[in-house]
Amino acid sequence: MKLVRLNINDREYEISVKENWTLLYILREVLDLTGTKCGCSTGDCGACKVIVDGVAVDSCLILAVKAEGKSITTIEGLAKATELHPIQQAFIDSGAVQCGFCTPGMIISAKALLDKNPNPSREEISKAFGNNLCRCTGYVKIIDAVQLASKRMGGEV
Ligand code: FES
Ligand code: FES
Repeated sequence: MKLVRLNINDREYEISVKENWTLLYILREVLDLTGTKCGCSTGDCGACKVIVDGVAVDSCLILAVKAEGKSITTIEGLAKATELHPIQQAFIDSGAVQCGFCTPGMIISAKALLDKNPNPSREEISKAFGNNLCRCTGYVKIIDAVQLASKRMGGEV
C-alpha cells in the first residue's frame, strides 16, 4: 500500500492505496463518491469521466497514484449545497436524462467544454462527447441541454 494525497472537489484526502487501484475505484469504493459511474472499465463509455487539471478524462484509465497533486472534480463537486449547477439544471429542463447512467459523465464533459469554450457550436459539443455513450436519448436533447446551459451561463447560443 502507498499513501497518496488527492485533491477532490477542493478537499484534501490522504488515502492508502494499492499501486494498481484506479482513480475510479478510489472514488466509488473508498470515498463513496458513487456519482461517477463504471460502465466498462476500458475507456469506452465515458460514464466514469472526471475533470483532472481542467480536462475531462476517464477515471477508469488513471491509476490513483498518478492522480496525486492534481486537481480532481467529480459530479459531486458541481452543485452548491442544494442548488444544482446550471448544467445539471439544463439537463433536467431539456429532458436530456432518461435512465441517467451516462448523465454524470456527460455533465462532466460538458463542464470541461464550457469552462474552455463558453459558447460552443453543436458540432463542438458533439465532438466533446466523442467517447461519452448514451443508450437512451439519441444525443439531441443532451446537445440541447449544453446549449441551454451555455445560454444561461452567459454564452451566446
Ligand atoms: S467506465 Fe471508464 S470509460 Fe467506461
Ligand atoms: S440516459 Fe440512459 S444511457 Fe444515457
